[in-house]
Amino acid sequence: MSIDLPAPGCEFTSQAVKVPPAVAVIFGATGDLTHRKIVPAFYHLQKNGQLPDGFAIIGFARRPKTDEEFRKDLKEALDKFSHTKPVCEDTWAKLAPHIYYHQGDIPNPDDYKKLAERIKSLPEAKVCGENCLFYLATAPNFFGVVAENLAKAGLNPQPEKNHLRRLIVEKPFGIDLGSAQALNKELQQHFPENSIFRIDHYLGKETVQNLIYFRFGNSIYEPLWNHNYIDHVQITVAETVSVEGRGGYYDEAGAVRDMVQNHMMQLFALIAMEPPAHLDAESIRDEKVKVLRCVPTPSKDYVLRNSVHAQYGNGTLNGKAIPAYRQEDRVAPDSLTETYAAIKLEIDNWRWSGVPFYLRTGKALAKQFSEISIIFKRPPAALFADTDSRIHRNRLRIRIQPNEGIHLHFNTKKPSQAQIQTVEMDYLYKKDAANYFPEAYERLICDALLGESTLFTRSDEVEQAWRVIDAVKGAWNAEDAASLPLYAPGSMGPVESDELMRHDGRGWAPPA
Ligand code: BG6
Repeated sequence: MSIDLPAPGCEFTSQAVKVPPAVAVIFGATGDLTHRKIVPAFYHLQKNGQLPDGFAIIGFARRPKTDEEFRKDLKEALDKFSHTKPVCEDTWAKLAPHIYYHQGDIPNPDDYKKLAERIKSLPEAKVCGENCLFYLATAPNFFGVVAENLAKAGLNPQPEKNHLRRLIVEKPFGIDLGSAQALNKELQQHFPENSIFRIDHYLGKETVQNLIYFRFGNSIYEPLWNHNYIDHVQITVAETVSVEGRGGYYDEAGAVRDMVQNHMMQLFALIAMEPPAHLDAESIRDEKVKVLRCVPTPSKDYVLRNSVHAQYGNGTLNGKAIPAYRQEDRVAPDSLTETYAAIKLEIDNWRWSGVPFYLRTGKALAKQFSEISIIFKRPPAALFADTDSRIHRNRLRIRIQPNEGIHLHFNTKKPSQAQIQTVEMDYLYKKDAANYFPEAYERLICDALLGESTLFTRSDEVEQAWRVIDAVKGAWNAEDAASLPLYAPGSMGPVESDELMRHDGRGWAPPA
């Protein structure tokens, strides 16, 4: 008897839920995000059996292109960017005929009327009716106008109609509190809040979703999770990449808008929030907003004493010469934009009063890793004073990426010696080969199609994060330009960042 084995790349990888039939329209369909993330995500949903009959994808963009040309472009992108390789040809052959291209100009309302006609005319429309997911993968200045033009064409949610109309909005969501509020208002005029899915791709990462399960699924941690036992918390997102061709965007954003306002504030909120009443979207998001509201708006004086921002100069990283940030393409030669930031935040509530949270992120650093370290209080040293050994604080290290896992550092007796030593207990996700790690976008697109908004940020969360970040940015802007420190590529940031910790009698926890 012969067994039919799946072709290479076509092995089934997950048992995840099927989404309802719908048309997904991608605005910005010829852009980088579509190629790198969105299409590979749809491909994996198809591969995992999550896309039903009657599912279609339309790419909306300005350049003239036939459906066939569009499919060919996407296949090339998929071969390049898919996180599983080789690409399964059978899966692609099933998906490709349901991908279409619609030529249109974002500001032109007529092109949306034609889009509405096109949706109705698709063979898939017989099954999916008018269920649509609109993915805004455009430059942020177009978000409002797409929503408005969809509404003009009757493609927004309609009262008393049975179909679903949802909007996925990419980051950055605003550049400060005022612009985020204005954008929320603009979108909400046409799409109610429960149909707006703001992407923060960190929330789609398995290890970030695990924060809720880990915190609230273990009775051993909850009693310790407060100012009585925790000395401080460190959240690090370190990247070895420089801005590499994204200078135009990055020079406007900087590390704080690019990484802290969204991804890092989300990690912060998940670590610090109170247990939610339920695991539904509103209960979790209510708790995140509540803890963000407990972060006092930092004064200028506080920011200048408790934060560091810096920029990389030129140097080498992993043996490769790196130009200074100011020499990068589309970066102003006198730019004061930070490529590194470290900020101490405080939470003024019963659980966390007096526990600092240190957030740091940077580009062109020595190591690529994202992790959260919970540093517990030091045990009384007197007991071991005669053992000629320094007693270290317990540390719980939650590795977001890479080497995803959880590590607990604790102290034991060194065998055969009267000394104390620190040892580590590890859980590594990838040791269990059965663990399939969907890419964040796969999970997020699937959830948006299911109408599940837990992993998307709500308008008030985004606004609370901006309130804090605006205060930080405002203080830095007012500072003398000459005081922006430089750091060497391949280092772990400027010395000022180590001084910030040393001043508090602490140090950055070494990465694994
Ligand atoms: C993006 C930022 O949101 O996140 C990038 O714009 C950053 O600058 C990226 O490199 C990091 O994401 P990840 O998933 O690679 O940690």
